[in-house]
Amino acid sequence: MISIRNVHKRFGDQVVLDGVSIEILPGQTTTIVGPSGVGKSVLLKLIMGILEPEQGEILVGDKNITAASNEAERNSIRQDLGVLFQSAALFDSLTVYQNIAFPLQQRCGHSADEIHDKTRKIITEMNLAPYSNSYPEEISIGLRKRVGMARALITEPKVLLFDEPNTGLDPLVGQEVYDLIDECKKEWHFTGVVISHELPEVFQVSDIVVMLLGGKVIIEASPDDFRNSPMPEVQQFLHGRVDGPIHIQ
Ligand SMILES: Nc1ncnc2c1ncn2[C@@H]1O[C@H](COP(=O)(O)OP(=O)(O)OP(=O)(O)O)[C@@H](O)[C@H]1O
Ligand SMILES: [Mg+2]
Repeated sequence: MISIRNVHKRFGDQVVLDGVSIEILPGQTTTIVGPSGVGKSVLLKLIMGILEPEQGEILVGDKNITAASNEAERNSIRQDLGVLFQSAALFDSLTVYQNIAFPLQQRCGHSADEIHDKTRKIITEMNLAPYSNSYPEEISIGLRKRVGMARALITEPKVLLFDEPNTGLDPLVGQEVYDLIDECKKEWHFTGVVISHELPEVFQVSDIVVMLLGGKVIIEASPDDFRNSPMPEVQQFLHGRVDGPIHIQ
């Protein structure tokens, strides 16, 4: 579904990604982990075409976003991608209903009736009807995440990208977010890309775990194989140990 092929990305002298290749298979959830500053968010921005690599290419389905020559072309490829950032980033001045309808209003080709029907439908499906007219600050963080998810799903993207969906949340709300991902995956069957350093909690929504270190993919494995990997870097990261081959910056 997404092919990341030999991608190199640097900022000035700092090499962030040094030949990264990952195949993200349709219907699966691939989790990208690694220490802070390793380039996880940069990789996500490259997939979305917000940043450009110096070398290598990224295909979303059969469309090469790194070769797109203008913003219109990139926007058309982005239609297949939905994104959920950590902050959920709802518009405070819009109601739940207005937040969810927003992405459809931004796109051409949808009539007002169609937008209304789709928004109503997803609000019902996601059990958000009682909060339709509430503002984000009036509802719990868990519900805000649910609204963010509904807003990401309303355009029916093939791929959903999550950048640290629950960092900074308490464990109960964090678990709610994982349950929400599971629940929505059953209904919408999207391909998932989750960025996280929450190990091992994130394993519950992961089919494949990819770890980045020093600009490279050092392991790509099922959660079980990841857990049992003999690689010292993997074990150090998994257990949050200070001593080991990974130097904390
Ligand atoms: N636009 C930019 N200009 C310059 N440097 C950047 C830019 N974006 C990211 N970087 C640098 O690239 C490196 C990787 O950043 P990135 O945000 O991808 O890390 P990360 O793995 O997502 O970390 P975290 O887990 O803390 O979110 C960092 O050193 C960061 O400072
Ligand atoms: Mg990041």
